Amino acid sequence: MPFTIDLTDKVVLLTGATSGIGLGIARQFARAGATIAGCGLEPPEQASEFMSVVQSESGQKPFYVQADVTQPDDLARYVGQTIAQFGRIDVLASNAGTNVFAGAEACSDEEWTLNLNLNLASHWRLARLCKPYLDAAPDGGVIIVNASCHAYSSIPGCFPYNIAKTALLGLVRSLTLEWSPQIRIVGVAPGFIDTRLNEAWFNTFPNPAAERARTEAQFPMKRLGTPDEIGGWFVFLASDYARFSAGQTYLIDGGRSAVMMG
Ligand SMILES: NC(=O)c1ccc[n+]([C@@H]2O[C@H](COP(=O)([O-])OP(=O)(O)OC[C@H]3O[C@@H](n4cnc5c(N)ncnc54)[C@H](O)[C@@H]3O)[C@@H](O)[C@H]2O)c1
Repeated sequence: MPFTIDLTDKVVLLTGATSGIGLGIARQFARAGATIAGCGLEPPEQASEFMSVVQSESGQKPFYVQADVTQPDDLARYVGQTIAQFGRIDVLASNAGTNVFAGAEACSDEEWTLNLNLNLASHWRLARLCKPYLDAAPDGGVIIVNASCHAYSSIPGCFPYNIAKTALLGLVRSLTLEWSPQIRIVGVAPGFIDTRLNEAWFNTFPNPAAERARTEAQFPMKRLGTPDEIGGWFVFLASDYARFSAGQTYLIDGGRSAVMMG
């Protein structure tokens, strides 16, 4: 029997769907036949890549809500509109986030608060809003949180982003203790993935191309990861094949963490 993942009867709530890893997640869920309710900071007219990915990969009419995940009212509106449209949520793919790199000494109170709101609290608030619907999902609900390799090891200057991403490992464990078995909660921790976030990081160096080449050479895989490669993990973890995975965050870093020093 072929090993296939068919999510045609699932509704996936996906944050940060307009760009980078979120687009890769959208593409792979659409390929698996899922219905996707995407959100992002951008207005719909700037979410055209998401719209065309959904349309071309699944043939479905795209559903998109402009929402800022740091705003509780936006989160409630996003979930409410999704339920009004589809009547159910089976999977929460909690992906939205951004780099807040300030350094421990220079970090302002505003940066600290923004970072904790965006990269930590928003995941919990959205999970709490989705819980009644995930509890009611016929095959059990699934939450997949996008953490980061910075949850395991980091670089000077990436404070306070790395603090919030580390705390997401605890969020995944804590929700598992309290909400399983009705809801399965897992995390992914991507390494360097080729998106505009890393583009911006490389552009902080005097010679971005040289810094990129130096970085890629440090990976046993000799390259950065792609959004689709992370999207594939989301689809697998949402599927029945992963039904014994819970409370764990999976590091997907092209072997980088296996290197002793770099
Ligand atoms: N790129 C990497 O190497 C990498 C590695 C590890 C983890 N991550 C994580 O992956 C996630 C996506 O990163 P990316 O590289 O694809 O970034 P990206 O900038 O390409 O995309 C970010 C997405 O999140 C959305 N977003 C940002 N702030 C938001 C807010 N306040 N409310 C709603 N939506 C918001 C944007 O609209 C966009 O859709 C982030 O959580 C990031 O921390 C990225």
